[in-house]
Amino acid sequence: MAPPIALITGASSGIGLALTKHLLEKKWNVVIADVQPPKEELENSLFIPTDISSWDQQASTFKQAYEWNSRLDFVALNAGIDDRDDIFHSISKDPAKPPTRPNMRTIDVNLTGTYYGIKLAAHYLSLPSSKPTPGGKIIVTASAAGIYPLPVIPQYAASKHGLVGMVRSMASVARPHNITINAICPALVPTSLPPPGLLDHFSPDQLTPMATLIRAFTELADLDNVDKPDWVEDGKNGEVVECNIENLIYHPAPARPNGSRHLSAEGMRAWAETYVGRNRGFVEEGGGSNSS
Ligand SMILES: NC(=O)c1ccc[n+]([C@@H]2O[C@H](COP(=O)([O-])OP(=O)(O)OC[C@H]3O[C@@H](n4cnc5c(N)ncnc54)[C@H](O)[C@@H]3O)[C@@H](O)[C@H]2O)c1
Repeated sequence: MAPPIALITGASSGIGLALTKHLLEKKWNVVIADVQPPKEELENSLFIPTDISSWDQQASTFKQAYEWNSRLDFVALNAGIDDRDDIFHSISKDPAKPPTRPNMRTIDVNLTGTYYGIKLAAHYLSLPSSKPTPGGKIIVTASAAGIYPLPVIPQYAASKHGLVGMVRSMASVARPHNITINAICPALVPTSLPPPGLLDHFSPDQLTPMATLIRAFTELADLDNVDKPDWVEDGKNGEVVECNIENLIYHPAPARPNGSRHLSAEGMRAWAETYVGRNRGFVEEGGGSNSS
């Protein structure tokens, strides 16, 4: 049987690279989807240049990943960038200087690019292949800024809150397709993401080590047992896990208010009856109007 295949976005550096190396040690094959190649040779990996904010590029990458060994088991949608805009620190108070069009790159990469990745993962994980059972696992890298406010980087915080909302909303509809989805929410990790100087403000014991992140991936996705027929199971589907220093903190969604029928399980059936057919119609009509 072909070895299990993982596709990891943003795998050339930081958290994605650490996960790639961990999986390679466990005899996985790994597709590295990144805008830049890794700085070192990694046996049993396949680098495919990919900007995740481009649907066409990401679609081509998933196709090549599946065709590599006719199999895809695990997708870590991990690529992300920090904030590139500002609102409240940049108010000009000058009528002649209205705001310029904001840079929305952080939403484009972190939120739109990851949504593209989930759509593609759902398809390619479900295809018939050499693995014991169709289906697989998706883990999205959100952030502690997806749980708590982070005032100076609100677009980043919004993108990561968006990922947490997507994971919580998609988990129950992914499950019948034998797919699970989770989010990990790292606190401050020493990678190339934090801008120069930020890490200097915090003592090393305030930083989250890579070992905590690998523990989170392993705990959520049971990556050592991928060839078990019942590898994908309900247990942790939809969980959102903060990785903070050495702690894994599970964050359940807020409880729905009593008496609010439209948010109850019964209410969810009404939402499904109304929306599923309508939105499937939109997809069948040809999907998005933007091609990249
Ligand atoms: N480092 C932290 O403190 C921290 C905290 C919370 C969340 N995160 C999240 O962890 C994830 C990984 O970040 P990291 O800390 O390892 O940073 P990193 O900069 O070391 O790695 C990010 C990787 O993503 C790639 N990338 C950037 N834009 C891309 C795009 N459009 N398409 C494909 N690849 C792209 C980069 O080339 C890089 O290899 C990100 O989603 C980030 O938001 C990081």
